[in-house]
Amino acid sequence: MDTTPKAGPKAARDDVRIMTLQSHILEQQAHHPQASGTFSWILSALSISAKIIADKVRRARLENVLGSVGTENIQGEVQQKLDVLANDVLLRTLGGREGVAIVASEENEEPVILREEVEGVPRYCVLFDPLDGSSNLDICGGVGTIFSILEHKGNGASVQDSLLQPGYKQVAAGYVLYGSSTVFVLTIGQGVDLFVLDPSIGAFMRVERSLMIPSGNKTYSVNEGNRKVFPEGYQRYLDWAQSNGYSGRYAGAMVADVHRILLKGGVFLYPPTKKAPEGKLRLMYEANPMAMIIEQAGGKTFAGCGQRVMDIQPTAIHQRTPVILGATDQVALVLAHLEKDSGQHA
Ligand code: AHG
Ligand code: MN
Ligand code: MN
Repeated sequence: MDTTPKAGPKAARDDVRIMTLQSHILEQQAHHPQASGTFSWILSALSISAKIIADKVRRARLENVLGSVGTENIQGEVQQKLDVLANDVLLRTLGGREGVAIVASEENEEPVILREEVEGVPRYCVLFDPLDGSSNLDICGGVGTIFSILEHKGNGASVQDSLLQPGYKQVAAGYVLYGSSTVFVLTIGQGVDLFVLDPSIGAFMRVERSLMIPSGNKTYSVNEGNRKVFPEGYQRYLDWAQSNGYSGRYAGAMVADVHRILLKGGVFLYPPTKKAPEGKLRLMYEANPMAMIIEQAGGKTFAGCGQRVMDIQPTAIHQRTPVILGATDQVALVLAHLEKDSGQHA
C-alpha cells in the first residue's frame, strides 16, 4: 500500500497538521452543514476569555490582583480579586455574542439574561465557574475555568427551565487549566480534544485528539483532611486503597485534579461530609461539564448511590452534588465499597 502523503489538505496527516482551536471549531462546523456558526462564535468567545484570563493569572503578582475583594459570593465563599476579574472577562466576551441568550456564573447569584427569544434564531445558555481553585492563586498553584453549554429552550420557556437541564443535555463542555502551560480541553459530544496555548503566537494549538482515560492507575484524589466526616463507605475505600499500594494526589483545584485524571487515570472524589451532606462541588458548572468530559473520554462519573451525575435533574443553579469521577476501573472500585451501605447519602 502506498502510504506516501498525497498533496492537498485532505491528505495531510493529523500528526503533521497544524491545527488551532479556531480551525478545529471551523472544521467541526463544516461537518454540520445545518450549523449557522452561532455555536462556533460562542466557543471563540471562550477561547478569547481563556487567553485574557491566562494573562491576568500570570501577571497577578505583578499587578497586585492577588487576595480577596472582601466580599462573598452566593456560596458564602470569599471572592478573590481574580474571581471577579475572570467573571467580568467572560461576561464581556460572551455578552458580545448574538448566540448567547443567558449566562450563569458561580460568582453571580442570578443568571444574566442577555437576549430575548427570537423565533427561528438558535441560542444557547453558557454556565461557568470563571476561576476554579482560586485559593491556589496565592501560591502559584494551578487554577482553571470550567464551562457548560446548553441549548436555550425557547418557545417562551422560563429562565429556570432553560438553565435547569440535566447534564446529558449539554451540547458542549470544557475547561481551561492555567498551569505550567495554558491548556484548553473541549468536548462537543464527539470525544475530547486538547489544545495548548502557544504564547508566542497567541493561539491554542491542538495537541491531542479523542483522549481516552488510561486504566490501571492506582491513584486517588480527595481531601483526606475530611476523612473522618466522610460516610463510612468512602472510609472503607480509603482503608482498602491504602492497603493496596495506592498513591494520593490532590491539588485542591478541581480543574487541576481532573486534568491529571484525564491524562493519567485514577479517581477523583468529593464526598458528602457531615457538615455538607451534598458535598461542595456545584452541579451545573463544575460537576456536569467535568462529567461530560470524563464520559466522552471513556470514564465514569457518579454522584453517589449509583446515580450518574449527568442524570440529576437540577432544581437550583447553584446546587451542589457529591462527585466520584475518573477511569471506569477505578470508579468501580470506589462504588464497590459504597454499595455495602444502604440508604447512606453516598
Ligand atoms: P472554587 O475556587 O471555584 O470555589 O472551587 C474550589 C473547589 C474545587 O476546585 C476543589 O476541588 C475544591 O473546591 C477543593 O475543596 P477543599 O478545599 O474542601 O478540598
Ligand atoms: Mn470551582
Ligand atoms: Mn470558582
